[in-house]
Amino acid sequence: MAIQQKALLLKSKHGQFVVENIPVPAPGPDQVLVRVEAAALNPVDWMIQAYGILREDYPAILGFDGAGIVEQVGEAVQGLAKGDRIIFQGGYSNSTATFKQYTLTTPGVSAKVPDSITSEQAASIPIGLVAAALGLFDPYTPSGSAKLFPPWEEGGRGKYAGKPIVIIGGSSSVGEFAIQLAKLAGFSPLITTASPRNAGALKALGATHVVDRNLPADALAEEVAKITSLPIEVALDAISLPTTQNAAYDILAPSGQLVVVLQDAVAAEKKAAQPNKTIVEVHGSLAAPGHLKAAASLCSALTGLLEEGAIKPMHVEVLPGGLAGVVDGLERLKNNQVSATKLVVHPQETQ
Ligand SMILES: NC(=O)c1ccc[n+]([C@@H]2O[C@H](COP(=O)([O-])OP(=O)(O)OC[C@H]3O[C@@H](n4cnc5c(N)ncnc54)[C@H](OP(=O)(O)O)[C@@H]3O)[C@@H](O)[C@H]2O)c1
Repeated sequence: MAIQQKALLLKSKHGQFVVENIPVPAPGPDQVLVRVEAAALNPVDWMIQAYGILREDYPAILGFDGAGIVEQVGEAVQGLAKGDRIIFQGGYSNSTATFKQYTLTTPGVSAKVPDSITSEQAASIPIGLVAAALGLFDPYTPSGSAKLFPPWEEGGRGKYAGKPIVIIGGSSSVGEFAIQLAKLAGFSPLITTASPRNAGALKALGATHVVDRNLPADALAEEVAKITSLPIEVALDAISLPTTQNAAYDILAPSGQLVVVLQDAVAAEKKAAQPNKTIVEVHGSLAAPGHLKAAASLCSALTGLLEEGAIKPMHVEVLPGGLAGVVDGLERLKNNQVSATKLVVHPQETQ
């Protein structure tokens, strides 16, 4: 068992990323130590570096999506054993982050990966799936969800048949998983926005209509009205720029819910004019106290959903250079140069 490992450290707030050696930690009683085979990049990683948000403990190790092999198991852990290949969500701490060769996780934020899914594909799943799942389908939380019934629980499949849903940004990570979950839940028509080149892939995931994401807000509303005259009671904005949030808010039925993945940016005058619409801000973390019940049920269902193909991983691109490859990858994410793809690194290839 290695005692030192490579990790990608963000040395200071707004600082540089540097690969350094750090000790491999021992798992606590409730934790497992995982050899990280694949770690995926997310917009939040560049946002932490660029905006100085969410982390105060520098040098900071980032990375929220991982897949790997369980190496050591804490004495109180149940359900995971040495050698299991798992998918897991990292956290806002150096001990649980995924941009390193070994990390700590818990059964509560992980699931076993079926043989049909590679570790790179598995790493593409956690944050995107979790944000979509908890934002739409957590009826147990006091806030932060549209509180629909989960399609992964008994009685959930097809429950919303005949009801329309709009998912803004279907080719983003959050969007792709929102489409798949909404399809399982029975929503139809399932309308999404994306660049036209991604329409075929999104229809294969379950979208019934893909509207060009470059349309102005009025034209988008017209397209949606042509597709369905039913009230849009739920929309999820996987992009959540001010423009997309305001466009989505307009499309909603008078008492509809808009799920956003960033801070609420709907104009105050719009809210005053349409006061019965609700905006739900998602915190897509399995470890968030309010989400624990839905998180546990999602984690216990996930292996089966992947085996069955009901949830498919994203298209992945593996970056060269191990953890050092994260830096250029985050730059591409920041510059909107990634489309319908998850960027992944192999931490074990780090020089
Ligand atoms: N609150 C949370 O817990 C949480 C969790 C995860 C992510 N997020 C946030 O959610 C956002 C999306 O993250 P992600 O990882 O899903 O992003 P991503 O996969 O990197 O998004 C890339 C995709 O965004 C699409 N896109 C960009 N601008 C668009 C627009 N105006 N309309 C429609 N689609 C657009 C592009 O579509 P085309 O290529 O088709 O043009 C591209 O495929 C980020 O801001 C992230 O920080 C929040």
